Amino acid sequence: MGKKLKVELVFGATTYSVAFLLLLVWLFAAAYFYVNPLGSCKHQLRFWRDYSLISIKKGDFAIEEVLNEVIQEDTLKFQLRRFVRDEDRIQFENTGFSCLHSQISEVCVSERPLIIDNQTIYVPSSHLQLTKKLKLYGEVNAHHRVSPVTIVAGEQSTNSSVPACHVTHDVPAVVFSSRGFAGNMYHEISEMIIPLFITTRHFQSQVKFVITDFNPKWVKKYSRVLKSLSGYDVINPAENGTVHCFPGGVIGLKYYGLMALNSSDLPGGYSMADFRKFMRESYNLKYKNVVQIKRERPVLLLISRKNSRIFLNERQMIALMEEIGFEVVLVRPSGMSDLAKFSRVVNTCSVMVGAHGAGLTNEVFLPSGAVMVQVVLLGLEWGSTAYYGGPASDMGVQYLEYKIDPEESTLLKKFGRDHPIITDPDSIGTKGYYAFRSVYINGQNVDVNLTRFRETLVQAMELVDLDL
Ligand SMILES: *[C@@H]1O[C@H](CO)[C@@H](O)[C@H](O)[C@H]1NC(C)=O
Ligand SMILES: *[C@@H]1O[C@H](CO)[C@@H](O)[C@H](O)[C@H]1NC(C)=O
Ligand SMILES: *[C@@H]1O[C@H](CO)[C@@H](O)[C@H](O)[C@H]1NC(C)=O
Ligand SMILES: *[C@@H]1O[C@H](CO)[C@@H](O)[C@H](O)[C@H]1NC(C)=O
Ligand SMILES: *[C@@H]1O[C@H](CO)[C@@H](O)[C@H](O)[C@H]1NC(C)=O
Repeated sequence: MGKKLKVELVFGATTYSVAFLLLLVWLFAAAYFYVNPLGSCKHQLRFWRDYSLISIKKGDFAIEEVLNEVIQEDTLKFQLRRFVRDEDRIQFENTGFSCLHSQISEVCVSERPLIIDNQTIYVPSSHLQLTKKLKLYGEVNAHHRVSPVTIVAGEQSTNSSVPACHVTHDVPAVVFSSRGFAGNMYHEISEMIIPLFITTRHFQSQVKFVITDFNPKWVKKYSRVLKSLSGYDVINPAENGTVHCFPGGVIGLKYYGLMALNSSDLPGGYSMADFRKFMRESYNLKYKNVVQIKRERPVLLLISRKNSRIFLNERQMIALMEEIGFEVVLVRPSGMSDLAKFSRVVNTCSVMVGAHGAGLTNEVFLPSGAVMVQVVLLGLEWGSTAYYGGPASDMGVQYLEYKIDPEESTLLKKFGRDHPIITDPDSIGTKGYYAFRSVYINGQNVDVNLTRFRETLVQAMELVDLDL
């Protein structure tokens, strides 16, 4: 075994020297024949670098700059090719452009330049001829709110309408819409922030975000995330007549569905754990695991709602929580808008309690091992599990449900015990989402049965209080 290693080392060293000599020969040849080093020799340099035969130290050679440029271009290609599966690679390498489909989303990747003129993206290429409209938002249910971009790929010279670049960028673009269901934190995290993370993390900040349907509120709210993922200011292509040109990029964001990541998919194979770590880093959060929080009494965060799914006996609930031994922090919707601040509050809590609703999305900031208690209102069982309960488990957050009885819902008083709204929510569901929504999501408040709710809280206490 030792011998083999030695042979390999000798062999490696030999190839290294050969490559080094070849490089010198090439340098002299280049100088002698005035060969354009960016042209014919690029390929060779790339070949050598790819096989790790050369390693040039900073300042060693005058061609360092050339090499850097080549490496930069190669890095770009490498990063973009990571989106494309083996079976599609050859086609991608030929055309430099590929649209990747899954059942629920479509994303186009280009290692050809992108010329972005507001909602139109030109891809000059002699191997392609296509015009395509794309909505750059994963969730199709939001597509009526999203304006499409038009991708025009083709021979640039035959299309005189391709505009000239005003600004030429040297890192790739990732283009996406910031409208969709922005304004609702669940959708913002599930359909925008997670997809953005999945799509752009591996660029290691060397990427610029071009945001269509530019939504300044969203950009401001998630500025920390945007800064963690990109080392540059975001670009609003509709702002003025500026035409932005990029060496390549991604059009659209990868999306797998409700709060979903897919650790076996390209480009990065990121998991929910990776995403949570990223969020902790972006927001400077202290606690990875709930056992790290040293408090006399575990802190319970109660998420208060204002317009619907309101806890009518919130004060009594708080008294009960305190009696059981929690320190209670009550947060109203207005208290959640500053994410940098609020994420830190959430991260110091051992338990979070709330009715089904976007506020529960803050579970992403809870330390692992914390407990989330979801109060599940009438008719909302499916959504409660799909939106918050399932994802909680993916996040390593312990999940408890408090499913209310009809007696606790204001719908009972409004419609009577025998109404199908009480007896058969599914039948209301078949009348369409808007009918369902107006009753169960927007038309219902809850008066929690404290006798029953106590059991759930005690259970939560047992789950987080093991060390005290
Ligand atoms: C040229 O670009 C326009 C959009 O500006 C497009 O409608 C047309 O199809 C393109 N022509 C070719 C030949 O690509
Ligand atoms: C960009 O396109 C949008 C939508 O078509 C339009 O409202 C806006 O005025 C355009 N911006 C510029 C600078 O032309
Ligand atoms: C358009 O906006 C960009 C970014 O704010 C700015 O740098 C540029 O000067 C503006 N161009 C014009 C023509 O106003
Ligand atoms: C995850 O990605 C793999 C590889 O692309 C794919 O086969 C699988 O269907 C994906 N799973 C989901 C749930 O999207
Ligand atoms: C609350 O729940 C308990 C235990 O299930 C039950 O005995 C009691 O009747 C309920 N109280 C109300 C007001 O419904």
